[in-house]
Amino acid sequence: MVSANDTATTNGAIPEAGDQPYIRVSSVWKVFGKNPERVLDPQYAGRDKSYFQSEMGNVIGLHDVSFEVGRGETFVIMGLSGSGKSTMVRCLIRLIEPTAGEIIIGGRNITDMTDKELMEFRRQNIAMVFQHYGLQPHRNVLDNASWGLEVQGMAKPERYARTKEVLELVGLAGWEESYPRQLSGGMQQRVGLARALAVDTDILLMDEPFSGLDPLIRRQMQDELLRLQDELHKTIVFITHDLNEALKLGDRIAIMHDGQIAQIGSPEDIVLRPEDEYVGDFTQDVRLESVLTASKVMVAPKATVMGHQGPRAALHTIGNSDGDAAWVVDMREHYIGMLTISGAERALRAGVKRIDEAWEYVDLEYQSVPPTTTFDALIPIAMASEYPIPCCDENNVLVGEVYRSALAKALAETSIQNTDYEANAAENAALAEESGR
Ligand SMILES: Nc1ncnc2c1ncn2[C@@H]1O[C@H](COP(=O)(O)OP(=O)(O)OP(=O)(O)O)[C@@H](O)[C@H]1O
Ligand SMILES: [Mg+2]
Repeated sequence: MVSANDTATTNGAIPEAGDQPYIRVSSVWKVFGKNPERVLDPQYAGRDKSYFQSEMGNVIGLHDVSFEVGRGETFVIMGLSGSGKSTMVRCLIRLIEPTAGEIIIGGRNITDMTDKELMEFRRQNIAMVFQHYGLQPHRNVLDNASWGLEVQGMAKPERYARTKEVLELVGLAGWEESYPRQLSGGMQQRVGLARALAVDTDILLMDEPFSGLDPLIRRQMQDELLRLQDELHKTIVFITHDLNEALKLGDRIAIMHDGQIAQIGSPEDIVLRPEDEYVGDFTQDVRLESVLTASKVMVAPKATVMGHQGPRAALHTIGNSDGDAAWVVDMREHYIGMLTISGAERALRAGVKRIDEAWEYVDLEYQSVPPTTTFDALIPIAMASEYPIPCCDENNVLVGEVYRSALAKALAETSIQNTDYEANAAENAALAEESGR
């Protein structure tokens, strides 16, 4: 328990989590209307929503919802209007009081907190972005974006310096003195995003932040968020009713339907292996290229050479690999570039002893991609090159390669959605176990 005289730095701060999920929501219910608890009374077990609504005037907003979010994960809650998404994200930090259930964030029990603890906890750990940006019309961009820091009591020079950095991050450098009415919707949303990022919390809650934007601007904002997340590794709960947005942004997606979670899984799980008819109907028209990723078709690199090796060794390695090129890596398997047969032959003729003494024979511009790259992004790259595409993890360690032929084969062989829901659920569970999700 946090006592009232704890200092601001320890009060409410989330300790480093180990392997624990960062956010854990267990059997949360939200019932609107009078005496909400009665809906959970065993005497009404088996009654459906409409009974409570018509007979008692209670609306069930959340029906026994459970999920977990890992640190640094982007978790998307997707569902049609009225499915309970906003209710869920508000219950998460008790802007709406859950009727039942437990919420743990970073090892701290949110459901048990006093009002004071809760306020402190939110202030330190949570930032929110909504569809309506909530900018104050009479404050300029700088003052709007630094609002959260002002509330925290940060001195002006410090908060302006910090806010300017964040405005630059979201592409608004130079707009500090402008007023909201002088900005387009997309720019106003960037100010909202900057305000949320300025307070530098671990957790970002975003309730349909891009819904009011034109399709083009919306796509730009999605790309922006992906780029920022690549850098910042926040734990994000992102709400949307747009399936494509969910598939693009989510590491995992929860599909909500009528206050319940219909399925939680990776974009691929949800599109290829729906676990009930509702999810299947929802996702059946999704293009495979937008969900299949490099990791699905990546194979172990067939030919790698190290910088200290010479062109003769490289030619030998390439010869044994039945390909036309080798990946040049350093001692720790970090990807450096591509050495083709002809490059190695030219280096040999020039009397080069070590590859790392003659980088001009290596294609250092030949780009690698992360294993999470979708086919949509891979296909143009594959079309532009006769060589495979190298795949590197977040530390630039070479982990695989993708052949153009493998992309085509995967697209041809991946059966359209499987509607054996039980088999899908079993396979998803097995895959989740395997990948440690
Ligand atoms: N204060 C309230 N009193 C009664 N019912 C409510 C209240 N707030 C929400 N609800 C009901 O709870 C259900 C879920 O609402 P919620 O706002 O969470 O949906 P949503 O998924 O966010 O929808 P949208 O996409 O339109 O924002 C709806 O049926 C709604 O009518
Ligand atoms: Mg909503």
